[in-house]
Amino acid sequence: MRYLTFALGKGRLANQTLELFEKIGITCEEMKEKGSRKLIFTNEELKLRFFLAKGPDVPTYVEYGAADIGVVGKDTILEEGRKVHEVLDLGYGKCKMCVCGYQDAAPLLQNHELIRVATKYPNIAKDYFYNTKHQTVEIIKLNGSIELAPIVGLSEVIVDIVETGSTLRENGLEVLEEVCPLSARMIVNPVSMRMENDRIKELLLRLRAQVQM
Ligand code: PRP
Repeated sequence: MRYLTFALGKGRLANQTLELFEKIGITCEEMKEKGSRKLIFTNEELKLRFFLAKGPDVPTYVEYGAADIGVVGKDTILEEGRKVHEVLDLGYGKCKMCVCGYQDAAPLLQNHELIRVATKYPNIAKDYFYNTKHQTVEIIKLNGSIELAPIVGLSEVIVDIVETGSTLRENGLEVLEEVCPLSARMIVNPVSMRMENDRIKELLLRLRAQVQM
């Protein structure tokens, strides 16, 4: 039996993913060792391998087959646009992609003005403004703390993730439009899906049962 390899997005989602896997009997003790600099972890008994990667790199590993399976946010899947199969909504990491800004930017959206949009997600923003809203905008790519953009006058609005809404509230900003709901998803390499169909189907069956509980 060959190893099935999992790429897990580092950060907030990774712990929840490992907890979910533990519930269906998939453990990786090696991964819990604190202070270790090891990059890849193996469960010899189940012939599984796991590695942590930066979120946006997860779909890349899965598209090229370096990982058979990935777990990452829907935001990353949409933004990266890789050739992978999205097979399961894992139900955690729930949040929304939104257009946000000061309340006085609302008419600029309604009137389809040529505004500046700052975001970490230029592809999602482009798709939303051009294909859904049919509004021409200038998109400015940032790498973090996106809420700063309208505050310092870099852009009129932002396209960003809203979870609790506290970052917006504490900075006097508001959700002006909702783009789409987000959560953690499982993705699979299309070739792995065919070659390892039985193992992957079995895994999905158990995960689906656990997620629906
Ligand atoms: C995300 C997102 C918002 C914030 C939303 O940023 O970009 O800034 O969380 O969460 P809230 O609605 O619960 O306040 P993250 O903390 O991942 O860091 P970043 O700003 O560097 O992207």
